[in-house]
Amino acid sequence: ATGELRDLRGRPLRDLRISVTDRCNFRCTYCMPKEIFGGDYAFLPQASLLTFEEITRLARLFLAHGVHKIRLTGGEPLVRKGIEDLVAMLAGLRTTEGQPPEITLTTNGSLLAKKARGLKAAGLSRVTVSLDSLDEAVFQAMNDVGFPVAGVLAAIDAAQAAGFERIKVNMVVKRGTNDQEIVPMARHFRGSGITLRFIEFMDVGSTNHWRMQQVLPSREVLARLQAEFPLVPLQPSAAGETAERWGYAGADGQFDPALGEVGFISSVTKAFCGTCNRIRLSTEGQLFTCLFATQGWDLRALVRGGATDAQLSQAIADIWHGRNDRYSELRASLPHQEGDGDGPRRIEMSYIGG
Ligand code: GTP
Ligand code: 5AD
Ligand code: SF4
Ligand code: SF4
Repeated sequence: ATGELRDLRGRPLRDLRISVTDRCNFRCTYCMPKEIFGGDYAFLPQASLLTFEEITRLARLFLAHGVHKIRLTGGEPLVRKGIEDLVAMLAGLRTTEGQPPEITLTTNGSLLAKKARGLKAAGLSRVTVSLDSLDEAVFQAMNDVGFPVAGVLAAIDAAQAAGFERIKVNMVVKRGTNDQEIVPMARHFRGSGITLRFIEFMDVGSTNHWRMQQVLPSREVLARLQAEFPLVPLQPSAAGETAERWGYAGADGQFDPALGEVGFISSVTKAFCGTCNRIRLSTEGQLFTCLFATQGWDLRALVRGGATDAQLSQAIADIWHGRNDRYSELRASLPHQEGDGDGPRRIEMSYIGG
């Protein structure tokens, strides 16, 4: 069973996002607030995690269905022991065109300086590092474990030194918390070869106290940047891209590649469900067809129940064929979009990854 899959809205499957752990050494207030993810929080037990062999087997089947890009997420993916080995196993797989898949990783950077070279050697293609502020007090209040800005900047340097290219930095923007850091962050990364992306604070999960009032729409972020730097819109670099791209212009008003670009991920104010080609595999082998899903499909039960490759492949195809998700497009018309605990419980971002 190979060939291109289409869901109910005609969307192909291209991007497989694999969460390798639900744990993290940060407690970002918008993701794993301490009062929920405290000392007595029950993380997944070791035996319930998919093994690297199980992940690789499933990834091979997804690639046969047209997946080209694999993103490793968490929690914090670098806290999973031996993650380099998983990268190497995935790098040995092939897409339907016979190429190695693009393998990327989203990390908070805390363990990256130590691991960058090993990850590169194992075959990791790219890294995205999260950083919400250059201001020490603001950043430490947001990660809520006192992790210093310098630690993340050192990780980015180490990734560059290890030979990673097209590195991205993700900044979650919360109005009233770190929006004053938008321009300083842009100034810092402009001309550095690193692409800064501004992410609208999203109502993922059911515990992060999301309020529309704390969302700073991307168009306002852009306006603040344009007051400082000339920017010009750029074409999308891939179909179904989450970020809208803008390039820094030089003195001639044209995009200057040496100055680089920024991205806007506007899930709240400008939904991008229409081209969403992403599927998510949780740490324990639940498959989710949307970041905002309330329910997954238990692939681990099939795997551990002795399903053949053909049976698993068919299950994946059936799930994608039946997919109709477009949460971000519907958000405004849904009840309970503010606050926590109301309505069906959505999966947490720390469980399913970005
Ligand atoms: P690259 O551009 O190839 O690096 O991948 P990407 O755009 O998927 O980047 P990344 O994985 O860093 O995603 C950036 C952020 O966008 C995530 O951390 C999420 O916050 C958000 N995001 C990614 N995919 C989705 C999605 O399907 N729906 C929504 N609502 N948000 C998403
Ligand atoms: N809204 C927007 N982005 C979020 N992330 C985590 N939680 C949220 C949220 N509620 C981001 C992280 C990281 C990526 C994995 O997702 O900052 O960059
Ligand atoms: Fe950890 Fe990333 Fe969530 Fe922050 S956003 S708590 S670094 S998983
Ligand atoms: Fe895709 Fe769901 Fe995000 Fe829309 S809300 S882009 S369907 S993951």
